[in-house]
Amino acid sequence: MPPKRVAVVTCSTRSPRLNPTITHYVYDVLSADPMIPTSPATSQEEDNIDTDPRHLTFEILDLAQQGLPLYDENIIPAGLPAADPTPHYEKAHTRAWSTVVRGFDAFIFVTPQYNWSIPASLKNALDYLFHEWKGKPAAIVSYGGHGGGKAADHLKGVLNGLRMKVVSTVLALPVKYTGLPIGGAEEERVPLDERDVTGWKEAGIEAMMRNLGMELVCELDKE
Ligand SMILES: Cc1cc2nc3c(=O)[nH]c(=O)nc-3n(C[C@H](O)[C@H](O)[C@H](O)COP(=O)(O)O)c2cc1C
Repeated sequence: MPPKRVAVVTCSTRSPRLNPTITHYVYDVLSADPMIPTSPATSQEEDNIDTDPRHLTFEILDLAQQGLPLYDENIIPAGLPAADPTPHYEKAHTRAWSTVVRGFDAFIFVTPQYNWSIPASLKNALDYLFHEWKGKPAAIVSYGGHGGGKAADHLKGVLNGLRMKVVSTVLALPVKYTGLPIGGAEEERVPLDERDVTGWKEAGIEAMMRNLGMELVCELDKE
């Protein structure tokens, strides 16, 4: 059985942005945790001899690379055939997004707080689909000046509406010192300020990240 694919989702889409830095931090901490049964991602499935059904692979999924305009389908996603909604979308970008999301077994949404909620880019990407999200485990990591807890609360409500299985461990990372990349290309990642990382470690980030990861493992194990 191939490892379960877990998307670590970069949710803001502006340029420059901090989100890729935070996403990679989450990815690195989870991937390095020896308690979380991980298996490296491979593009060639036949080479993958990992047969442990509890194993996960983490992969970064960037909403900025999905080419989604503001929602422009003429259907309501929840009304499409649950078993195979993909061909029923009118727009090619929706069919592509549907295929991407169907390929993942679980999601960790790493989102900033914008005006006490989630960025429109994330809500838009979620609204495009329904059955592709439904029933899958989801976890939330927010960040912002005070951790972005209000964004996490809103996101939890939206994910519940999509009938996702939202795990109880929610991480809120206060970003007080790390700034944006200055004058760089879009893909440039600003390094995290050590004072932010130290603050997160003192607050027990690694143990909370482990709980989050293990909750996903448990949810995926039930399937
Ligand atoms: C439109 C907008 C609204 C914001 N609202 C909040 C907020 O409500 N609370 C907060 O702590 N930070 C807020 N911020 C600051 C963001 O947390 C910070 O800019 C962060 O870098 C955003 O992530 P990004 O760079 O990936 O877009 C806001 C930023 C933007 C651009």
